Amino acid sequence: MEYHGLLTRYGALLDLPEHTQTVSLHEGNTPLIPVPRLAEEMGGGFELFVKYEGLNPTGSFKDRGMTAAIGEAAGRKAQAVICASTGNTAASAAAYAARAGLRAIVLIPQGKVAAGKLAGAVAYGAQVVQIDGSFDDALTLVVKITEKHPIALVNSINPYRLEGQKTGAFEICDTLGKAPDWLCLPVGNAGNISAYWLGFRQYNEEKSTGLPKLLGVQAAGAAPLVLGHPIDKPSTVATAIRIGRPARGEQALTAAEESGGRIIAATDDEILAMQRRLAGEGIWVEPASAAGLAGLEKEINAGTLDPTGKQIVAVCTGHGLKDPDIITANMPKPELVPTSLEALEEVILAQ
Ligand code: F0G
Repeated sequence: MEYHGLLTRYGALLDLPEHTQTVSLHEGNTPLIPVPRLAEEMGGGFELFVKYEGLNPTGSFKDRGMTAAIGEAAGRKAQAVICASTGNTAASAAAYAARAGLRAIVLIPQGKVAAGKLAGAVAYGAQVVQIDGSFDDALTLVVKITEKHPIALVNSINPYRLEGQKTGAFEICDTLGKAPDWLCLPVGNAGNISAYWLGFRQYNEEKSTGLPKLLGVQAAGAAPLVLGHPIDKPSTVATAIRIGRPARGEQALTAAEESGGRIIAATDDEILAMQRRLAGEGIWVEPASAAGLAGLEKEINAGTLDPTGKQIVAVCTGHGLKDPDIITANMPKPELVPTSLEALEEVILAQ
């Protein structure tokens, strides 16, 4: 069947206003990739899948929520949209605004946005404003400005973002034929974990697909939901989730608890090590996207999560191309050899 994007496929299941337009780049429909070798390395005896959200049109899961939020804004004739972002929301908002013919303004924290995300926002034609503060400061500002001016807010405070992001849960259930036993995913502003829980609950009510336990994973230097208080100066190499005051923090904690799961933290070293192992499976994700699996392994090793006989899905939220610097910064320069067969033989056969 031809694929026309999430609103066409799942629109009837989403609580969106009548006036919502279909603004689509054929987002969603991302693969659920089995990673049996990685499961084996974690002790084996269970099925492990990666929901590879980096294959969305702008390279992250944000496109699921943005097709809904921008479609709604366009439908009520908004002229402009705005968001605060650690980068992926910015690129996605910019692309969908471009598609709808709307102006996009994005606020980013100074110096902490990965190159591929910033380039995306600029390429899609957004006005990019850097503020000399954190993501949390930027979010406070966009809330204030949208209260004062007719500009549509497209951060995940916007309920239509969550409606769109529920489709991640629908797709996983449709592929597996039921909900997995565990869902692991990174947590930043906490919209995605909240949306997945809404989606799984809705599908379970309508189709008895069951409910997963949720394992949300924050970066240890930006783990307000684990520590139980806001963090003024969050710090992590996983810049996507460098957030100290998650807008949907309470909702995320409730979701994790209702599911019988929890929110934990993984260190930067654990996150980067998992990023490398995923790349070793042929799946390159940005650092934040490896946090879910890093947390899963930690729980298995600690004996606090028994995976035996279970189906586990890890949501890998953004593509590795978003943050090339994290790889190239510590990379030795590729060896330079003369253009000759002998020199090439020497270099590759010596190994
Ligand atoms: N993974 C990636 C790659 C992200 O970009 C984000 C959030 C998350 C995970 C966390 O999702 O916020 O719903 O808990 N990025 C936002 C942004 C904050 O501005 O792009 P969340």
